[in-house]
Amino acid sequence: MKVSEEKIQQIRDSADIAEVISDYVTLKKKGKSLMGLCPFHQEKTPSFSVDSVKGLYHCFGCGAGGDVFNFIMEIENVSFPEAVKILAERYGISLPQFQMDETSSYETEILYYTNNTAKDFFISCLFQTRAGANALNYIKQRGFTSETIHTFNIGYAPNRWDGLILMAKRSNLPLQHLEKAGLIIKRKDREGYYDRFRGRIIFPISNRTGKVIGFGGRIIKERKNQPKYINSPETLIYKKGAQLYGLDIAKEGIRKRDRILLVEGYTDVMRLHQNEFDNAVSTLGTALTEKQAQILARYSKNVTLLFDGDSAGLKAALRGVDILFKTGLRVTIALLPKGIDPDSFLLAKSQKLMNEYIESAKSFVDFHLQQLQTRGSLDSPQTKAEAAKKLLDTVSHIRDPLERNFYIKDISEKIGVDERFLHNLQLRKNDKTDKNSFNTGKQHPENAEDILLIFLLENFIKWSKVIFDFIDEKDIISNSILLTIYKDYSQHKIRDENDIMDRFTANPEIKSYLTSLIARRKDTVTKGEDYNNLCADCIITIKKRNKKNRIKRCQEQIRKDQKYNKDVSQLQNEYFKLKKELVGFTKEMKDAVLKKIEKNS
Ligand code: CTP
Ligand code: MN
Repeated sequence: MKVSEEKIQQIRDSADIAEVISDYVTLKKKGKSLMGLCPFHQEKTPSFSVDSVKGLYHCFGCGAGGDVFNFIMEIENVSFPEAVKILAERYGISLPQFQMDETSSYETEILYYTNNTAKDFFISCLFQTRAGANALNYIKQRGFTSETIHTFNIGYAPNRWDGLILMAKRSNLPLQHLEKAGLIIKRKDREGYYDRFRGRIIFPISNRTGKVIGFGGRIIKERKNQPKYINSPETLIYKKGAQLYGLDIAKEGIRKRDRILLVEGYTDVMRLHQNEFDNAVSTLGTALTEKQAQILARYSKNVTLLFDGDSAGLKAALRGVDILFKTGLRVTIALLPKGIDPDSFLLAKSQKLMNEYIESAKSFVDFHLQQLQTRGSLDSPQTKAEAAKKLLDTVSHIRDPLERNFYIKDISEKIGVDERFLHNLQLRKNDKTDKNSFNTGKQHPENAEDILLIFLLENFIKWSKVIFDFIDEKDIISNSILLTIYKDYSQHKIRDENDIMDRFTANPEIKSYLTSLIARRKDTVTKGEDYNNLCADCIITIKKRNKKNRIKRCQEQIRKDQKYNKDVSQLQNEYFKLKKELVGFTKEMKDAVLKKIEKNS
């Protein structure tokens, strides 16, 4: 597909960038521009801005930016022609027909087209055939309304080996395309193909923009030797770990409520939507992945897990919490009675009762404790310690030290174990998991920020002059307290370590975090530690990370510009310059830091 410059300009003029981005990011008016949480990196305070007048977006945090086409390319992970197509469709602008010589985007286009044709076929089978009537009857018996059936594009695959194949022949759809889409399977014993889905209720699975990417098929009468569900295999456009069922339908509701309801099954999603829980989505029959969590995080940071209370559901919930924490999401858990999923709950009880369940969803700490209590495993010091350790396993996935600390405090209060004990446990865990522990030369960047904070707490006058001579705002990424201290320092608001503690009097969480850091130093540092070298190593690690990030951004920009056939020679120069700066950087920095320390002491 070759789209003329005029067409592209026409699309650019018609597309309201704020409207397009609002599909993915909640934007709020701030002065002249619109601001929101950047969908391309993790952040807590909005640094993603959109300028409707200029038609541009920019993130001050990670440097992402561009026009409405760039945005779609980035967020949907598509090529430029695909982004053009998505926006043209959205704004009703006609494009020239796709040409046969298109490369990868043509392949995906074929898959979308094939799936869409199959979906329409399955729908017609549900409503227009005798066997379909039986399936429809079953669905209606289960209490699904016509509206729900329509919204979710439910269909029926006829109970024969060549249902789709005959349809394809009638409508001149190449069988290879059906095979590529996973809808038919090549025969082993002889020539030809057979249908994958036979005699099953069909749940089309769509991507975020509503295009059909795969199918789930449910048997009507459960039989021993037949799986209840079969699903499309993965294809170029269908990745089970990177998509969610119902997201195209739920994204509005999620944004409106600023909460995601995460459930396990197709019918759960349908039932919830039918009962006005319009923010429900599910995974695709597999355990939640980090990729899925990242996708969810673009729509809301709050997730409620709503699972069957049986042991499988419990396990899935606990695994889910870890993954969601890792992605920086806030999680609550509502576990239904054993053997009851959201679908059967709503059918047997009421919308109101379900709402109460969801409203009273517990934090994972309370949830876990309740589990342990009912098993009677919290009545001795030993079992308490065991429980605390288990909970800490999950807590260690939380990125932000403050939030982590909040949970540690909560656990300590609720289980009745000393907070310091938990901190020590947590730190020992860090030391074990971080290849680069406190005592070795090389530091993990997040760890390095913590360690610099320890230096400042120990002797602010001495170390601030060194540290802040090299490290500034741009370098501090993971530790919000260090950042606050840096800002105060640069405004001369902090003179010594006591001022640091005073600065945070109003915030006991931070204070106890700082105290735990001081304890960590006393606990971990053995005699003869070379503080000067340790400080230098941490500074180097942090500066290096900054440089590497800049290189990465430069690389990405080059890749993007190449897609547009832009001249990238200047960027390439910049790239090589940055690369060159890294050579010998460690040694130069080390000398500089050590010299500075010497001068100050
Ligand atoms: N699933 C699957 N393959 C199976 C069984 C289950 O892919 N053989 C997936 C489906 O996405 C299903 C989800 O796991 O929706 C949950 O399974 P289950 O609880 O068994 O089904 P329900 O969704 O409750 O379906 P129904 O209410 O129709 O029994
Ligand atoms: Mn069910």
